[in-house]
Amino acid sequence: MSAHVKKAELHCHLEGAVPPALAQAQARKYGVDASGFLCDGAYVWRDFTSFLAAYDAVADLFRTEHDYALLTETYLEELAAAGAVYSELFVSPDHGEAVGLGADGYIAGIGRGIELAKARTGIECRMVVVGLRHRGPERVEWAARYAANCRNPLVTGFNMAGDERMGRLADYARAFDIARAAGLGITVHAGELCGASSVRDALDHIRPSRIGHGVRAIEDPNLVARLAGEGVVLEVCPGSNVALGVFPDFAAHPLRRLHAAGVKVTLNSDDPPFFQTSLQREYAIASEAMGFTEAELDGMTRTAIEAAFVDEATRTALLARL
Ligand code: ADE
Ligand code: ZN
Repeated sequence: MSAHVKKAELHCHLEGAVPPALAQAQARKYGVDASGFLCDGAYVWRDFTSFLAAYDAVADLFRTEHDYALLTETYLEELAAAGAVYSELFVSPDHGEAVGLGADGYIAGIGRGIELAKARTGIECRMVVVGLRHRGPERVEWAARYAANCRNPLVTGFNMAGDERMGRLADYARAFDIARAAGLGITVHAGELCGASSVRDALDHIRPSRIGHGVRAIEDPNLVARLAGEGVVLEVCPGSNVALGVFPDFAAHPLRRLHAAGVKVTLNSDDPPFFQTSLQREYAIASEAMGFTEAELDGMTRTAIEAAFVDEATRTALLARL
């Protein structure tokens, strides 16, 4: 999809956006054998569990503020070249802690990359801190408290990613209350690996303005109507869904049906090189495999800006760029 179609992305995991060539260079730099998760310039995984393991192995190759600044700047400049004016990056302070960099150094490095990319290309970006569900409610609350207290103006939202099949969503509600009380925007992964009931649980227990994926709401027409009625925005990632086997192909993907039912939808790449995609490709899939017109694609970009976790002056400026 050509760069003249303006784009915005609300759902991309930073460590999931590492170009394989950069991962290879980082592995050489730190003397790491990457053959277990990187082969012939592509990431190797079989299912969601091994995908998460490969994701963590790639994250382990970024160990300093400079490493994170380089990764962030690299991704955002590529996104800007594809016509994106806005990006929200999912960042996990847990990964900064895991490599000994610490959450503050991790966020500082990413913030530096955001500033560099903005200076070079004009792309606007914010960070959404994610807690990792498979690490349990207490660890997710730790991430929420970190996001609530870090006082970095580029950190504007809170999300929970990781293995949706683990734990009950209600047990994580307190983390979201901490983030909400601090004024952060709220979004949560649901309706990807688990069915419609996970989306209903998200609405009932977390009360997010957006849902990451949410596409399996299509299994329950009443829930689809509820999403449309409440104006909850879905961060839809078709390439990721097909790569992970959530739907067998793009013809079976429910984006078109959700859009037709009046649900607010946006296009996103999730973990682009892991799923052989990019934001540009997601727009191309929507156009070529799903038949969305350019006006409809523009509408999804507008929806993303309207749902972005930014101050109103920035939102107005972004809308003016469309
Ligand atoms: N972390 C990275 N990508 C993810 C996905 N698609 N679902 C849940 N957690 C993730
Ligand atoms: Zn995701």
